[in-house]
Amino acid sequence: MTGDRVLVTGGAGFLGSHLVDRLCDAGNDVTVLDDLSTGDEARLALRRGGIRFVEGSVLDAALVGAEVARADLVYHLAAAVGVRNVVDRPLTSLLTNARGTEHVLAACFEHGAKVLLASTSEIYGKTTKLPMAEDDDRVLGSTRIHRWGYSTTKAFDEHLAFAYADQGLPVVVVRYFNSYGPRLAPGGYGSVVANFLRQATSGEPLTVHGDGEQTRCFTYVDDTVRGTQLAATTPAAEGSVLNLGSTRETTVLELAELVRSHFPGVEIVHVPHEEYYGSSYEDTRRRVPDVTRARDVLGWEPAVDLPEGLARTVEWWRGAHA
Ligand SMILES: NC(=O)c1ccc[n+]([C@@H]2O[C@H](COP(=O)([O-])OP(=O)(O)OC[C@H]3O[C@@H](n4cnc5c(N)ncnc54)[C@H](O)[C@@H]3O)[C@@H](O)[C@H]2O)c1
Repeated sequence: MTGDRVLVTGGAGFLGSHLVDRLCDAGNDVTVLDDLSTGDEARLALRRGGIRFVEGSVLDAALVGAEVARADLVYHLAAAVGVRNVVDRPLTSLLTNARGTEHVLAACFEHGAKVLLASTSEIYGKTTKLPMAEDDDRVLGSTRIHRWGYSTTKAFDEHLAFAYADQGLPVVVVRYFNSYGPRLAPGGYGSVVANFLRQATSGEPLTVHGDGEQTRCFTYVDDTVRGTQLAATTPAAEGSVLNLGSTRETTVLELAELVRSHFPGVEIVHVPHEEYYGSSYEDTRRRVPDVTRARDVLGWEPAVDLPEGLARTVEWWRGAHA
């Protein structure tokens, strides 16, 4: 599908900006709505003049309504992202993720725009059932642990999307697994790849939390956004949730070694989780997606492996933070 009028909320973010590039290349008429809280307009520099950029918040219902009214398809990526963000600023994060999405979905319903909702592997919580399939049970900790608030608001967003779907709204939900690549924010907000690269380039030791045997499936950004566009434009995906993630399980310690291979001499040290996140924290030990559905419905497979993706990211990082 090309030539759509597309709205990307959070389009100045890490994933959003790559998605915008892809959508522009496919000939779409793209508008970005972003409040620049963690986004950066510089990420859209390549597209300056080729897109409409609207600085504003998804918490502004009137603005959301006006922008959605111009669109056929909405990619809703704006959110307070990442566990770290929610742990640091629980109230604003929870409200952004709940109310902002409420506004976007209500406007899409009112104006008849299809919507793709960006969700997260955090949805699965601390389940030990692997690989994680879309319809699996979610296993969360206490509400006194802020980290689960991110999972909870994204799950609320998914529920709301499917409640609107029952009323006729075309929706599709994608759950991302640890996406990384060029344009990662140096602050990282919980992105272990960004944290390691920042530490390595400033000559600091790479800080591995706990024993480093916890695993994640790191997914190169091009694969993530290709899957996102496919999910939004494949009719058979409508009404479903799809995992988008690499199935290659990597320990955090392995990741640290891989980063160190680009920065010889850099040290690796272990620090307790609590030192970074405080005592109100629980970790997810292993996280691996089942991507059968994305493979069957979208014909999607991750194409860039971690060594290659990391090499591209390091090259970009060196140029951007020279
Ligand atoms: N990067 C990942 O690995 C990952 C994993 C799981 C889920 N996600 C989801 O993907 C989406 C994009 O994440 P990202 O990694 O690109 O993070 P990001 O922080 O780079 O992007 C989020 C964007 O949303 C914007 N934003 C935040 N609050 C807003 C508001 N109230 N109004 C308008 N814009 C607002 C930010 O300025 C930023 O540009 C998010 O919904 C996130 O939850 C990402």
